[in-house]
Amino acid sequence: MKLFVDTGSIKEIETIAALGILDGVTTNPSLLAKEPGDFRQNLKRICDIVKGPVSGEVTATDFAGMIREGHDIAAIDEHMVVKVPLTRDGIKACKALSGEGLRVNVTLCFSAAQALLAAKAGATFVSPFVGRLDDIATNGMTLIADIVEIYDNYDFTTEVLVASCRHPIHVVEAARLGADIATCPPAVIESLFNHPLTSIGLEKFLKDWEKTQSVKA
Ligand code: G3P
Repeated sequence: MKLFVDTGSIKEIETIAALGILDGVTTNPSLLAKEPGDFRQNLKRICDIVKGPVSGEVTATDFAGMIREGHDIAAIDEHMVVKVPLTRDGIKACKALSGEGLRVNVTLCFSAAQALLAAKAGATFVSPFVGRLDDIATNGMTLIADIVEIYDNYDFTTEVLVASCRHPIHVVEAARLGADIATCPPAVIESLFNHPLTSIGLEKFLKDWEKTQSVKA
């Protein structure tokens, strides 16, 4: 399973990329709005760091505007993926942009029916938001299982990009269900490393080793 980081922060992306386990980046207007500087230059810098898929989202809500902004986003770098919302105009734009050979990530997906539409429109990625479903007392991971099953039934090539991951269990469940990608905030990626027995075990190994060194000396 591929691991993407969900942030617009160049500093955070540099830190996670240095770990050697980062496959791509997702951004959204809320995340990019937090960052200083020109968003196009920031996205270009992110592409140079990651050298993998980087999603940049359109803010237009009409078909023509999405196509215009989609072209603008795709022109930033070869790694850019155009992110469109799962609306009627978004699905139309996905079909048109995908037809031109651009990669499209259909975002704000909250149902299997919506995910089916994204696949039929030729999306490269669909982004179901598991955390926001959990927030309204609906099991987000059940949606992932449904989408993976439906896509497998018909050999759709659209990749299931599990978004709105809030904790390590979301990532592990995404992997168990055979999702293609999980995108997580940096803190969730950092949390994947943590286990108290790893820290305790390492401390003991090093203490035992130190003892033998002092005996030898
Ligand atoms: O980028 C889309 C998604 O990952 C947002 O997550 O935590 O704002 O629901 P969240």
